[in-house]
Amino acid sequence: MIHIRELEIPSSVGASGWDDFVAAMSIHYGNEALTYGTDELAYTAVEALPGFLDQDNQPTRLFVAHDGSRMVGAARYELEPGNDPKTAWLMVDVLPGARRSGVGSALSTKLQGVAATDGIRKAIVYAVSGYGAGERLPAPTGFGSVPRDNPEVTFLLGKGYRLEQVVRGSRLALPVDVSSQLSDAIASAGADFALHSWVDRTPAKWRVEMAALRQLMSTEEPGGGLDEPEDVWTVDRLVEDEKLQSASPRTELVAAIEHVPTNRLAGFTSLSVPLEIDRTIAQRDTLVRREHRGHRLGMLLKLANLAEVQRRMPGHPAVITFNAEENRHMLDVNEAVGFVPIGYEGAWRRDLPT
Ligand SMILES: CC(C)(COP(=O)(O)OP(=O)(O)OC[C@H]1O[C@@H](n2cnc3c(N)ncnc32)[C@H](O)[C@@H]1OP(=O)(O)O)[C@@H](O)C(=O)NCCC(=O)NCCS
Repeated sequence: MIHIRELEIPSSVGASGWDDFVAAMSIHYGNEALTYGTDELAYTAVEALPGFLDQDNQPTRLFVAHDGSRMVGAARYELEPGNDPKTAWLMVDVLPGARRSGVGSALSTKLQGVAATDGIRKAIVYAVSGYGAGERLPAPTGFGSVPRDNPEVTFLLGKGYRLEQVVRGSRLALPVDVSSQLSDAIASAGADFALHSWVDRTPAKWRVEMAALRQLMSTEEPGGGLDEPEDVWTVDRLVEDEKLQSASPRTELVAAIEHVPTNRLAGFTSLSVPLEIDRTIAQRDTLVRREHRGHRLGMLLKLANLAEVQRRMPGHPAVITFNAEENRHMLDVNEAVGFVPIGYEGAWRRDLPT
């Protein structure tokens, strides 16, 4: 008999609800590791927790499924109410040994019920698709496809989702010598652009600019037919987010480019670096403002941050990044640096009845 309940999100590491939170995270990251064939992407529960704590800007709820006393599945429900309270991001994970017995469907039904209560109109799911033989389901973007008979594909199609986009995961083995590419990119950017670098907290003079860039990031990435809403970022939210994230043992290494004549930021990129030297670094957002594109600033940002991370925190085995399969500009940059594909995710959408 499957029993679904909502988890209490622990207010800090070890606080009430902590053991269940750890178990739920291990189901999610365990599944991801199985499908990608590597645990390099996994966050520990301590690292994941800050992402659940900004309940004003990103309210997130967790539900789990029990079969008797055993936790067999976990589901995440996330909103970004800033500009669009009508979209929810969902994820369902079931332990491999407990699949095909209705646990995923029970969790999905629970999430749909919560969404209906919240008046949600659109649900979005990002699901990793491992290798699968046979027929392919192409993304309507024209770039990428997923195996039609994979469990997550059959499951999502059965729940009324449609595939909108394919996202590529890529890995760059470290160390990598980027010095000559970096010198070329600095020369080609010219004297109008100056590089800056910082760790964890945005310097006060760049907070307004960084909040604007974080907001732009939510709409500037190619989103296929997902039509993801703009996420509102203010300086207060940026400061609060960085305060919450400072509880994580990971370090955020940011590279930004100033457009010197206007004293504004033309773009930024960031890497999330685990404390343990043998763990892989996660590439996070990269953005160049539209008016500054075409100067190879995306390449300059990536190269500068790769050089910086190897100087400040040498020894990590690799960097992993995710890009929309149709995002040729970003893929060109990553491929030129040496990133190679390691797997693919489907981005799925379901429109809910009013
Ligand atoms: C996708 C996932 C959540 C399904 O969980 P589950 O508990 O096995 O799902 P259910 O038992 O409720 O299956 C519901 C339907 O999905 C489809 N399905 C699920 N697994 C399938 C498989 N291996 N092959 C074919 N169809 C499958 C079937 O139509 C199934 O109905 P049926 O058993 O009556 O034929 C699970 O495989 C999983 O955790 N995968 C990794 C995480 C993930 O990709 N999540 C994405 C969805 S949000």
